[in-house]
Amino acid sequence: MIQISSVEKRQQKKLVILWSITFLILFPLLVTLGLLMRLNQGEWMRMSPGTFYALMTLHGLGMAGSLFSIALAAISYLIATRYARLNIGVGYFSYVSVVLGVLGLAIASLYAKFGAGWYLLYPLPFTGANWPAWSTGLTIISIIVLGIGLLINCLHVLYALAKEYGGITRIAGWQYFKKDPPEKELPSVVMISTISLVPAVLAFLAASVMLIMYLLKYFEPSLAFDPLLLKNLTFFFGHTLVNVTMYIGVGWLYTLLPEFTHRDWKITKVTAIAWNATFFFILFAYFHHLYMDFVQPLPLQYAGQLASYFSAIPATAVTMFGVIVQLYHSKIKWTIVPLMFLLGTAGWAIGGFAAVVDSTISINKVLHNTLWVPAHFHTYMLMGILLFILAFFYYLVGAKEDPGKDQKPKLGFWLFVIGSYSFLLMFYLGGLNSVPRRYSDYGGIPLKNVHETGAHLAQAASVSICLLLLGLMLMYVTLFTKLLRSSRPAAQNETVL
Ligand code: HEM
Repeated sequence: MIQISSVEKRQQKKLVILWSITFLILFPLLVTLGLLMRLNQGEWMRMSPGTFYALMTLHGLGMAGSLFSIALAAISYLIATRYARLNIGVGYFSYVSVVLGVLGLAIASLYAKFGAGWYLLYPLPFTGANWPAWSTGLTIISIIVLGIGLLINCLHVLYALAKEYGGITRIAGWQYFKKDPPEKELPSVVMISTISLVPAVLAFLAASVMLIMYLLKYFEPSLAFDPLLLKNLTFFFGHTLVNVTMYIGVGWLYTLLPEFTHRDWKITKVTAIAWNATFFFILFAYFHHLYMDFVQPLPLQYAGQLASYFSAIPATAVTMFGVIVQLYHSKIKWTIVPLMFLLGTAGWAIGGFAAVVDSTISINKVLHNTLWVPAHFHTYMLMGILLFILAFFYYLVGAKEDPGKDQKPKLGFWLFVIGSYSFLLMFYLGGLNSVPRRYSDYGGIPLKNVHETGAHLAQAASVSICLLLLGLMLMYVTLFTKLLRSSRPAAQNETVL
């Protein structure tokens, strides 16, 4: 633990509250875009394909970007107030870059209908596009702007941790590989943040190369690049970033759950090896997105299947085991924070299992490009990382000290869980019934039963989304008031967590 002044703690808390409020406003708006897409697929409303893909692009980029940003902000806050000094200016720089980037993306997609998807798949944004060319440029520049802010933030956190704990191998926990345990203990959150943020930095670097190529093509249309190279860079970036968002959340699970169970959760040789193994495999798992690309060298396809299996096992297995050890006979009070941690861990396991199923080559031949794919990543994002993030917010507003008063959020929480799982179930059933993903209008499917099944499932999903939104709003009532109250100067006398 580091010693920092109450003024610095308050500054860090103000910053994380700003991030939290911004996220809490943005999130339901992005869910509403998802609702509109499902309503259109369910034939309960009509929008043009151009509008649908513009909404899908903003929804995908917005969700992935905002979840990573808030996860980084939350872990930075925990680190800054407990483990290593962080510069508040870097935090605000990152916040402003992300807000500017999101504004740019919103203008490009909502106003100009830029609709190439989060993956901007080359040469798609430049060939046969039905949106103005400037919106392609604006999207590329917006992603660069928000990417720079996040990259600098990641590098800053890694540098501060390495400085405090004696170098990069130490913060990655390599001292635990030796026979005897190290003299000085490393907090688990430091090791997990390192294992998450180093791949995030590599992902941002891959994205920089890719975006510079896009920018060159935008300014000089006669240039041509290798589409396979760009697809590899895109999926290395996207897949890695979404995975590390989950791992960052697991970082605060290791730190905060013990405060409720009153049991230690320390790094051991096994946890250090498991997390470092995950670090290695996570970098190669993305190959499972390219199984259908016949020009991809065959050994990489096999590497993709193996890395997907291995990346899913070590960190997940030790964490699940750790959660069981934490909770078993612990006499924990089931307030909203530990409940969210428990169900978040379950969501991570369920979504992860569905991902491993899909990464199996023989199964992927059937499920590829069906709704099974959004099903799995929506599960671990919505029922995994989002629950960890909400748990963090409740912890931040003092739900630990105030356990008796959280009845309204609990009702909201259960409505949210029921709504979310029924929304997700419709994606899974769609996948199993061969309903394709990224289809604005299932009427375009030449098989009558697939069209009808897809539309009925989308209708059921729309009702479920309304339920989850209702649950979210019930949770918001207390969360918002408490967050706003903690950000006011009057809160200066309150405990800073
Ligand atoms: C309740 C909340 C959500 C709803 C209602 C929702 C809804 C949808 C829908 C309907 C689609 C189009 C699926 C298709 O037909 O292919 C979609 C795509 C997408 N969603 Fe969500 N979503 C939600 C939460 C999230 C979250 C938390 C993430 C976080 C990463 C996310 C990321 C994405 C992405 C990246 C795509 C684009 C997928 C692609 O490229 O095929 N969504 N979402």
